[in-house]
Amino acid sequence: MTKLILGKDVSAEIYAELRERIEYLKSKNVTPGLAVVLVGDDPASQIYVRKKGEMCEELGMKSLIIRMPADTTQDELMAKVKELNEDPAIHGFLVQLPLPKGLDEDAVIEAIDPAKDVDCFHPSNLGRLMIGNPDFLPATPAGIHQMLLRSGIETDGKNVVVVGRSNIVGKPTAVLLLQKGMGMDSTVTVVHSHTKNLEDFTRRADILIVAIGKPRFITADMVKEGAVVIDVGTNRIEDPTSPNGGRLVGDVDFDNVKDKTSAITPVPGGVGPMTICMLMANAVKAAEKASGVKS
Ligand code: GUN
Repeated sequence: MTKLILGKDVSAEIYAELRERIEYLKSKNVTPGLAVVLVGDDPASQIYVRKKGEMCEELGMKSLIIRMPADTTQDELMAKVKELNEDPAIHGFLVQLPLPKGLDEDAVIEAIDPAKDVDCFHPSNLGRLMIGNPDFLPATPAGIHQMLLRSGIETDGKNVVVVGRSNIVGKPTAVLLLQKGMGMDSTVTVVHSHTKNLEDFTRRADILIVAIGKPRFITADMVKEGAVVIDVGTNRIEDPTSPNGGRLVGDVDFDNVKDKTSAITPVPGGVGPMTICMLMANAVKAAEKASGVKS
């Protein structure tokens, strides 16, 4: 029987733990504060940012959403980052990506105080992850790790194949699962758009993690019998039968792949909810570190 790994189930466990930590912080007069900066009016970003704010409030954290116009200059954005770096009520913040054309994302990320970098995008935080001594973990890779760990999936010595090499998902997920520790210790291979005979690698995966941004790219013939498949893709495809003319699918051809797997994440409802959850976990951690209050 294939097990469905659902983000709402795994995140519910983590949220319950976070609520206790938040309550303890608040009992010591520390309210964890998370700010999100949104530049411009990208529709997907607006939805993500709204969800992040709502989740903060649901958990009893302070939420600050800063909307800046699409024609914001680099200097204006850098000034906002500096202001948030210096605001003691804000323990963590992020600048939602992508930024409008003309703004330098790398410069913005590097300007964020690493102690407030709850996305874990700053080179210093990614470097700490690389050497196995992280303060924060990037949200989606951390979410994948928690899904594997809390679903009782053995990772020690397993062949993990990561499809995709983005800085947000592919590369940090590979580095994380390579580390020593529970839910890690894997033999990791990263494949990408320039890999020759990519299916030769995916077919050897005990755990296949796909973050390539191509709808239903992984087909049943590319997956080993009994593999665990984690699908990070969220692609909107046209669907005339759907009320709004489209629907979300992953990077994995779920309907045809699922029966071959021992466990799989659906889209939507799989990895998606984990990303916000692990962002909240980073915000709580930032508040604990800054205040020295830890339950
Ligand atoms: N855009 C898409 N995902 C993310 C994320 O996790 N953080 C930020 N800052 N921007 C994003």
